[in-house]
Amino acid sequence: MSLAVQECHGGMGEPGSLHQPVCSVLRAHLEKMASVHMRDLFESDPNRFERFSLQVGEVLLDYSKNRITDETMQLLMRLAEEAGVAGWRERMFAGDKINHTENRAVLHVALRNRSNRPVVVDGEDVMPKVNAIIERMGVFAEQVRSGQWRGYTGERITDVVNIGIGGSDLGPQMVVQALKPYRHPRLKVHFISNIDGAHVKETLESLNPETTLFIVSSKTFTTQETMTNAHFARSWFLAQSQETKHIAQHFVAVSTNSESVAAFGIDPAHMFEFWDWVGGRYSLWSAIGLSIVLAVGAERFIELLEGAHDMDEHFRHAPLAQNMPVILALLGVWYNNFFGAESHAILPYDHYLRSLPAYLEQADMESNGKSVDREGRVVDYATGSIIWGATGINGQHAFYQLLHQGTKMIPADFIVSIDPPTDLHKHHDILIANFLAQTEALMRGRTREETVRESGASGNGQFIQHKVFEGNHPSNAFLVQKITPHALGMLVALYEHKIFVQGVIWNLNSYDQWEVELGKQLASRILPELHADLPVASHDASTNALINYYRRMNHTHPD
Ligand code: F6P
Repeated sequence: MSLAVQECHGGMGEPGSLHQPVCSVLRAHLEKMASVHMRDLFESDPNRFERFSLQVGEVLLDYSKNRITDETMQLLMRLAEEAGVAGWRERMFAGDKINHTENRAVLHVALRNRSNRPVVVDGEDVMPKVNAIIERMGVFAEQVRSGQWRGYTGERITDVVNIGIGGSDLGPQMVVQALKPYRHPRLKVHFISNIDGAHVKETLESLNPETTLFIVSSKTFTTQETMTNAHFARSWFLAQSQETKHIAQHFVAVSTNSESVAAFGIDPAHMFEFWDWVGGRYSLWSAIGLSIVLAVGAERFIELLEGAHDMDEHFRHAPLAQNMPVILALLGVWYNNFFGAESHAILPYDHYLRSLPAYLEQADMESNGKSVDREGRVVDYATGSIIWGATGINGQHAFYQLLHQGTKMIPADFIVSIDPPTDLHKHHDILIANFLAQTEALMRGRTREETVRESGASGNGQFIQHKVFEGNHPSNAFLVQKITPHALGMLVALYEHKIFVQGVIWNLNSYDQWEVELGKQLASRILPELHADLPVASHDASTNALINYYRRMNHTHPD
């Protein structure tokens, strides 16, 4: 716990509030800011964009359309200082075991440490083994991509299937989709995560066992969904190939658990290792990214790592006030803990980034969806936001109505690339125009007078009020030159560090996930009950009734 928190805990805090000394000043400042409209802030300051925007590499962040002044930002920076962000940041980069409930270091930054400076965990520099695995992934991927690696009948591999869930699925899937323009022309990459049998069946339906390579991606190699799907894929493969010796050419594993990989029948020589200091939702930079290397090649993967490393360097060295992840995190805290905003929308104006919201849902909510602080005390302030979103342009025709005219404050991140991903330039101009129009409209709104003027109706018209937009809705705009591997690496690392900073301010361990463990336990207790001979009575009345209804109505049997 930081000293600042200790000093004022139990004294200065109010229910629902943070406890750093600056928080009472921020609360007083909020009273002033609550009635300030951004429209007026822009009118009174023509340099607002210059003061509240920042470029790091190819990522430009405009955060001027937020309900902030210089004073707000200064106070928020004090909050970061009082919470000890700089110290915690150093501890993470130094390999301290900041994931204290699992006694683990948090070192996804080592996976993309392109400076190669030593990173020591338990007395060992981890960089040689990080570099070795990147090298092995590259060699293997090149064999498959070039056609040197063949299936058991001598055919080239045409399809790669990653079987994993959560962090072993969402990250690589999002990146492979985002980098589609860079993909290998003849190698398709598929992802199976869902335990709904439709997912695995539908995916395998169109594939040929002779030309399919499976990557079983699981940190623990015990996750029920992944192992069930992997065993199904194995049987599907053996049904045609007949001999278990052929598994060697068609199944590889990514895991920290070599014993279980061997027990599954995968040659340990075909296992790509990672380590317990890589959290599942931070693992796309590790061997979990093997499907990415297969899709776009080793060079592009390295560019992705370099982009993330550049953002790491910025995060580690830039002063807090010019630090992009810190600024984003503090803006989020401002709305979450002071304005009472419950959610935060991620709105990529980019077809290839359409899985980014789902990826960030896990990254953020699994990290900061906690109600107990690092010392094990139940917190009395809001922590992680509800993260959600979709491609912005589709959202405009779906849920933006609520963003503009609903009763909730929903801060939003708008993301777009300047270079179009295709040669359809007119499409891209329309996309950009919408991107800009929406952030402007959210900020400005439309007053009653403007509405009357624009509609030509009289101010007393019955529906005028329905067409008025209050505005004053905060948003961040990200303009990225082009969604290259490097830029994508920067963007993802930016969000990772934002999550880190918020976790520090809320005094959370952002790197454990005890709910996932609970989910596993609960499902394994119920599973045998679904086909029990006698009615189930060991749960609450609702759960018992539902299990027993299922038992009566379901006439299938487990495979
Ligand atoms: O624990 C984090 C997490 O990414 C969860 O989202 C997911 O359920 C799990 O890991 C997947 O675990 P594994 O990689 O061990 O199969």
